Amino acid sequence: MTVSNPGDAAPPVDLRPLGRTGILASPVTLGTSSLGAGTVPGDAGEAEAIDLASAMLHGPYALIDTSNEYAGGRSETVLGEALARDGIAPGRAIVTKVDRDPVTGVFDRDRVRRSFEESCERLGVDRLGILHLHDPYSVSFEAAMGPGGAVAGLLELRDEGLVDAIGVAAGRMSLMRRYVGTGVFDLVLSHNRFTLVDRSAVPLFEEAGERGMGVFNAAPFGGGLLARGSASGATYAYGETTPELRAWVERVEAVCVRHGVDLPTVALRFSLRSPLVHSTVVGVSSTARIDELERARAADVPEELWVELDALGPAPSTIVD
Ligand SMILES: NC(=O)c1ccc[n+]([C@@H]2O[C@H](COP(=O)([O-])OP(=O)(O)OC[C@H]3O[C@@H](n4cnc5c(N)ncnc54)[C@H](OP(=O)(O)O)[C@@H]3O)[C@@H](O)[C@H]2O)c1
Repeated sequence: MTVSNPGDAAPPVDLRPLGRTGILASPVTLGTSSLGAGTVPGDAGEAEAIDLASAMLHGPYALIDTSNEYAGGRSETVLGEALARDGIAPGRAIVTKVDRDPVTGVFDRDRVRRSFEESCERLGVDRLGILHLHDPYSVSFEAAMGPGGAVAGLLELRDEGLVDAIGVAAGRMSLMRRYVGTGVFDLVLSHNRFTLVDRSAVPLFEEAGERGMGVFNAAPFGGGLLARGSASGATYAYGETTPELRAWVERVEAVCVRHGVDLPTVALRFSLRSPLVHSTVVGVSSTARIDELERARAADVPEELWVELDALGPAPSTIVD
């Protein structure tokens, strides 16, 4: 989906192929998991969210990441409102994900078709470039892969030309390795597992790269801790931190101070500099955050900083799978 709006923006920055998909991404993809949360149609919060969505659709990056279930569907609705009002700049596209039924948890072929239709209706489109299978935790791998399963639904959508490329987007590595190992997906998205404090996605990304898949690395700030810092009380990967993890992040902060760079810049650049990652998905809550991302991309981060971070040794990550 790329509706052009004459008079718009420069091309997206630093385009690169997402594996063999033929789709181009920028180094950063904007995440919208909280876009429109708590708003209702017509209220002031929704108007603000639509303005932010429009800024994303005309921003420096090629892709904007959402899902059927983000903010209870409001993320897609707000993106759809922005798209209808202001269009989308050339070279930009919305990526979304199919989700289990929010009431029953059912996640089979029929639910995938309904999820796709709901997303298209909210976004005001009739086809999508990228569609991921999102957090398939309510069904077994065998059920998702079997006849009538969720993956059959995604494959049908791709075969019918309603979707160009399909991905799997989730956390747990034991499960992600199995899905990637099927060879049926074009893309993978992992979160919180390739950051300053956790590297458990490395084998997954290596395998995806060998298979020619596109690789998204989401949540480079761990959802907060690696942007707000050790003293902020922020969580890592949406869960409580430990004193050991906070102490380790404090040591990273000391390295950052010595080199005159801030923690969020280093956390973002850790992902951007990796050849394993095609695009890093970052949550943004304001247009100021988009400007900050561009500053972080341009900042001077000396090579010695990475050497000093390596010397700290592995972090006591709180992620177990
Ligand atoms: N299963 C999946 O498919 C999956 C899972 C997780 C994430 N994702 C995608 O990845 C995106 C990113 O994940 P995420 O938002 O959870 O994690 P994230 O990008 O690691 O962290 C975003 C958080 O960092 C804060 N932040 C960013 N820059 C900052 C700065 N300079 N100073 C202070 N705070 C700063 C933001 O605060 P503010 O709110 O104040 O801006 C926000 O709360 C999601 O929106 C979603 O699109 C997908």
